[in-house]
Order: sequence, then structure tokens, then C-alpha cells
Amino acid sequence: MNNAAKPVKLKDLTKTFTTATRGEVKAVQQVNIDIQPGEFFTLLGPSGCGKTTLLRMIAGFEMPTSGQILIQDQDVSSKTPDKRDIGMVFQNYALFPHLNVFNNIAYGLKLKKVPKDEIVKRVHIALNMVQMDDFAERVPSQMSGGQQQRVALARALVMEPSVLLFDEPLSNLDAKLRVHMRDEIRRIQKKIGITTVYVTHDQSEAMAVSDKVVILKDGIVQQVDTPQRVYQHPANEFVANFIGKANILDGKIVESTETRAKVEIRGVVFDVPVYKKRAKGTDVRVVVRPESVLVGKQGFTATVTKSVYMGTTQDYRLKFEAWDVEISDNNPTSKRVYDEGEEMAFSFDPDSIHVL
Ligand SMILES: Nc1ncnc2c1ncn2[C@@H]1O[C@H](COP(=O)(O)OP(=O)(O)OP(=O)(O)O)[C@@H](O)[C@H]1O
Ligand SMILES: [Mg+2]
Repeated sequence: MNNAAKPVKLKDLTKTFTTATRGEVKAVQQVNIDIQPGEFFTLLGPSGCGKTTLLRMIAGFEMPTSGQILIQDQDVSSKTPDKRDIGMVFQNYALFPHLNVFNNIAYGLKLKKVPKDEIVKRVHIALNMVQMDDFAERVPSQMSGGQQQRVALARALVMEPSVLLFDEPLSNLDAKLRVHMRDEIRRIQKKIGITTVYVTHDQSEAMAVSDKVVILKDGIVQQVDTPQRVYQHPANEFVANFIGKANILDGKIVESTETRAKVEIRGVVFDVPVYKKRAKGTDVRVVVRPESVLVGKQGFTATVTKSVYMGTTQDYRLKFEAWDVEISDNNPTSKRVYDEGEEMAFSFDPDSIHVL
């Protein structure tokens, strides 16, 4: 397939629904995002944060209240979906039940009056790409959910769109198949190098496949970054809590340069990385991930209120002053395990402390 990958630019994109019962619903608010050519870009956030609305505006199924959508610097905001050169894969596959796999995939090409021999060729390339070569004659009811989703993907790919959109394509599949299919989608996406916008509310799925993610809350962008950056350097408490587990504690800046700061947390001073200079005495909130808590290291002590063996980790909850501290201690087989009710000494890995 011959895609010259295209950039997608969202400019001040806004969608307000007017409803009878809830009044004005601000589904998407002033979103500005630059998606690079060939990028796998994921919209992530809790239910109702505006992911589907945003995706539907890119696809052309929903008209923006204001703002613009640019594909390769061309404003497509007022174009109908079929004029946008976009492929879309939905959660419920949306295959035609009475058509076999071949005809499902060929459907769009026939509408475009593509010559028959070319249709045959392109359908088979698409089927091969999703590893469904032997399924051309089946109808959707004779296939599993995962197989139907592959066909839906082939149907989108066969049109050779400039941009591929996915709305929670894997949420109807069981956990194991979900992991397999997400790797497949990523493999195919990398192979053709197509610009992709993907919606999920599953943060581990987003982390696994994306070049970049945007975290949305109430239709407002919280952070646009790589998966590593949103995990290690969340922009705010919402992001820290949404991506993985986070201990968020109070601290005070003792001294600071542009790149390092001494932060006091409950009487213990840590030398931590920072990205801007903070004034001495500033109260800050710090994020410590459960796996960055050092079990048994002198610093603080607290009572274990929960101790759960997870196989690869021993997970603890500690009552530490006003906070519940979550700890994930890896490789517990070779370590001392604390029981509920025991006192534990613990500290934090300073380089993993993130100052908000
Ligand atoms: N056609 C509509 N009319 C009125 N309100 C709508 C409409 N579509 C969506 N909304 C509202 O806009 C907000 C965003 O909805 P949206 O479907 O984009 O969320 P989402 O992030 O996709 O959620 P989910 O993870 O549950 O799919 C919600 O408050 C929703 O109720
Ligand atoms: Mg949705």
C-alpha cells in the first residue's frame, strides 16, 4: 500500500452539544493538537471525556461548533466523511452481515468504481495484511470477534486512506486476544506507516501501542506527550492518577537550581530532578510511583494495612500520616515479605520523585 503519511492538525477544536435535559454539554473544548505524519496517536481519558466526539469530528460524522481540522494543511472541517480520505474501525466491527468477507472488504472499492481485477488484487493484499487469507468466503456470523475485527481493519486499509481512526476497537474482545490484536494493529500500522488516531480508555493499551498520547478530562487537554513522559512526568494530579498508580504527597522546596532541587517530605530531604527552578520554601506536591518506594530502607516508618502477593510483585498499602501509600515491591520471592499490621521502614528513590 502506498501511503504518503499525512499530518493532522486540530486547531481550537470545540464541540458543544445542546441537550434538553443537561443543557449545554461541552464535550470538546479548545483542543489544539499536532499529529505528525505516520504517528500512532492515542486519545485517552475516562468515560465521557470527549474521545469519541473528537474522533467523530476528525472523521466528519460530527461538525465542530468551532475550530478546524487540517489534514496535510488542507482544511477538511466542512467536508463530508467520504471526502476526507479517512478509514475508520469501530468497536462493534460494523460489517455487513449478509456479505462475505471478500465483499465486505471490496464494498468501498466497488462504490468508487475501481476495476474488478484491481479490486481482487487489493482485497487479497488487505486480507493478507491482517492474516485472514483463508476467510474470503465466510460471512461475519461464522467468525469470532477477533476475526471480524481483522476484517473491519482490512476493509479500512483497502481504501488506502491517509489517516486511520480507531474507536475502542478491542473492547469487545477478551483480555488475551486484546493484547494480541493491539500488537497486530501496531505491527500493521508501522508497516504501512499510516497516521493513526486511536481511542481507548485502557491506559496500558495506550502505553503499549502509542507514539504519543493525549490525556483528556471534561473535553480539555491535560497533557500531550510520549507514554514515557506522561508516566514519569505527569503534568498534574489528574494525569498522575489516571496513568498508573500514584502516591501524591506534600513537600517543601529547601533549595533549587534549574535541574535539581532538595525537597523535604515529612522531615526527610531528597535530592530530586526538576525541570524549572522553584523558589525556596514553596509548597509542592510530589508523585512517587508504587515501584519507586524502597522497602526496608531507612527514611520513614508506617504500618502495613494491606499485603497482597501478586506473583511478580508484593503489593502493600501503608498508613502513613494522612496518606495511604501504595507500594509495589518486585521479585518478592527473594525478599522479606511484610504482613498486615507490621511496621515497615521505607524510603523513596530520589531520581523517581516527580515534583508537580
Ligand atoms: N449526540 C450527543 N448529544 C448530547 N451529548 C452528547 C452527544 N454525544 C456525546 N455527548 C456528551 O459529550 C460528552 C463526551 O462524550 P463522548 O462520547 O465523546 O465521550 P467518550 O470519551 O468517548 O466516553 P466513553 O469512554 O464512555 O466512550 C459526554 O458528556 C456525552 O454525554
Ligand atoms: Mg467513546
